[in-house]
Amino acid sequence: MIADVLIKNASELVTARGPRGSPKTKEAMEDLGIITNGAVAIDGKEIVAVGETDEVLAAVTRARTVIDATDRIVLPGFVDCHTHLVFGGSREDEFIQKIGGRSYLEIMQGNGGILSTVEKTREALASPRALLNRAGAFLDKMLAYGTTTTEIKTGYGLSTESELALLKIIASVKESQPVDIVATFLGAHAFPKEYAKRKADYIQLVLGMLERVKTEGLAEYCDVFVEVGAFSPSEARTILEQAKKHGLKLKLHAGEFNDIGGAELGAELGATSIDHLDYISERGIELMAEKKIIAVLLPGVPFHLMTDRYAPARKLIDAGVPVALATDFNPGSCPTLSMQMIIALACRQLKMTPAEAINAATINAAYALDRGDKVGSIEVGKRADTMVLDIPHHRQLPYWFGVNLVTTVVKNGVVTYPP
Ligand code: NIG
Ligand code: FE
Repeated sequence: MIADVLIKNASELVTARGPRGSPKTKEAMEDLGIITNGAVAIDGKEIVAVGETDEVLAAVTRARTVIDATDRIVLPGFVDCHTHLVFGGSREDEFIQKIGGRSYLEIMQGNGGILSTVEKTREALASPRALLNRAGAFLDKMLAYGTTTTEIKTGYGLSTESELALLKIIASVKESQPVDIVATFLGAHAFPKEYAKRKADYIQLVLGMLERVKTEGLAEYCDVFVEVGAFSPSEARTILEQAKKHGLKLKLHAGEFNDIGGAELGAELGATSIDHLDYISERGIELMAEKKIIAVLLPGVPFHLMTDRYAPARKLIDAGVPVALATDFNPGSCPTLSMQMIIALACRQLKMTPAEAINAATINAAYALDRGDKVGSIEVGKRADTMVLDIPHHRQLPYWFGVNLVTTVVKNGVVTYPP
């Protein structure tokens, strides 16, 4: 067989393969499906052979591009399953206030936080082209750090017109660069200023937005920020139930600063994932385990906000909840695009092992976007999204932190990084 791309001699080919059809839980999260001295062959956009280098070379007689990964490891591309990547402005001023001891919720109540980015984003929407270009530049950086699929939420428009405009920017950026994108509608991210005293009216407005999102086919997921000062579980229920009727899949921001029952609500409604969970009840953990709802943990948030309250990852894993990791890239609570940094934090702060963290950032994150059958592992028939890291062993991935270990990214069967 002649292949388009052949990567060979990898000291470890980390396949992340596992049971078909479901994310990894418990001990399976320790299993990375490593093939030593491994190789992978790609034809078009698909992986066509995986195995020890000798075996793969016996099947693949020639390849147009050959990458020698001697002394390096090969991984599936990262899946960043929670980001807010389209926004105007930045919030380093708040970051400095946080260094001085002000909390995220205090800043939010003082009209800073999400609402300050809403203001900047609405201004920026006057020239959508600039926002689109900025999103493209963020995605280029993500790709250089190994992310080949990402979710992107709206949530900085908070009016029908601006939320739809953000969804259209997400749709355009999906077409204009190589990273695969999954769109999430987060009209219920905060109550905009003009509705501060008319919360029920804003909920009605969001229901109207959902109508448009559905008819225009602009999002696959609907998310709600369930938190003190944001949406209560009963407000979230109204929105999420309607979204479900429209055929959207569900995600929730829950337990970022307070546990107000978001995990229980998400479990009851059959959400694909519930994200953050720095605060979660025992009952919430049990329900998520029972329903196999993915916990998307975002350790970059307590790190950036300096709160020292991290999700109980060990408890979640022991209880049988499938755990995934993501950046939560946004200007307020986590301005990083690097999944390598998130893995480094997951090991240090969540006490996940390197193997668990890598599964959480690849195959389980793919399931958190309902794409576990297509991406997230190196297996025959899956999309050819793989990368080479300049380390001889996967345990070094979280060990060297704050540096980019990725040397080559193959996206859809094409060497895309370095450009
Ligand atoms: O996931 N919590 C809500 N949304 C983001 C923060 C957004 C912002 O601060 O701008 C989060 O942490
Ligand atoms: Fe978020």
